[in-house]
Amino acid sequence: MTKPRIFVTRLIPQEGLEILKECCHIEVSDHDGVIPRSLLPEKVKDSDGLLVLLTDMIDKEVMIAAGKKLRVISNYAVGYNNIDVVEATKRGIMVTNTPGVLTETTADLAWALLMSIARRIVEGDKLVRAGKFRGWEPMLLLGTDIYEATLGLIGFGRIGQAVARRATGFNLKVIYYDKEPVSPNIEKELKVSCVNLDELLRKSDFISVHVPLTEETFHLIGQEELNMMKKESYLINTARGPIIDEKALVKALKDGVIRGAALDVFENEPAIEQELMALDNVVIVPHIGSASYRTRTKMAIMAAKNLISALKGERPEFLVNP
Ligand code: DGY
Repeated sequence: MTKPRIFVTRLIPQEGLEILKECCHIEVSDHDGVIPRSLLPEKVKDSDGLLVLLTDMIDKEVMIAAGKKLRVISNYAVGYNNIDVVEATKRGIMVTNTPGVLTETTADLAWALLMSIARRIVEGDKLVRAGKFRGWEPMLLLGTDIYEATLGLIGFGRIGQAVARRATGFNLKVIYYDKEPVSPNIEKELKVSCVNLDELLRKSDFISVHVPLTEETFHLIGQEELNMMKKESYLINTARGPIIDEKALVKALKDGVIRGAALDVFENEPAIEQELMALDNVVIVPHIGSASYRTRTKMAIMAAKNLISALKGERPEFLVNP
């Protein structure tokens, strides 16, 4: 029997590829970087399955190009806004993702960003490297205390909860906004309380975003919301860029509407507002929320297993089709 054909859009950790190789014929894109849109239709042709990244837009056109054999699209990410799931469902194509395995790693990064922006770590690093360190100074790089502050979490799913769990050691007050509040037991265990978005914006010293990108959450944080935030507060985003109106954020940071921001994700990745890059009160990292050796390996294994179970005709554990 001929083995199913799988196209993998970019090199992922070997552990995942080994699993696929056991029962599939795999081709991994050898393009150095995100596979260009112009090459995608030819590459996906006649595939039974695709293993794709959040940087690949998988829409109707790509599904048509893949052809009638296509049974599964396995996303190497928990967020799957890059895939037209409605179209895939219409065509009987299963779509899967990698939840859970990257929760703690992403929560770690949200905290790393929060601490970096509050204590001006990147500015300090730049100053030292520029040879401007003159010794201890009473007024050098004063930052904001994290302990005993109020942390507001927008979105209280797996990652939001993992961020809250880390707050205990800092004695933070944690409030969250989610359209589906967690049970009173979880709230008690994590010492958090649910508030509406306006209250969260007005009361928080640090706001960290943990909702998926959907039509509903697109530009959830715009000028109006930024204006509601405290002047001394910070915004952290490790979810998806378009949840925040980037132009409005730049203006708020420039005008001192909020004190700072720390961002792992951007509205039009990899492009970033030039003005954002010029600001000192923002920490910018290149979408590395899940980027630890261990987590990326776990994601590769999970994405491969999802794909294989779909090809076997089973229901993959992490299916996202409704
Ligand atoms: C995800 O899985 O959605 C993350 O953004 C990957 O780092």
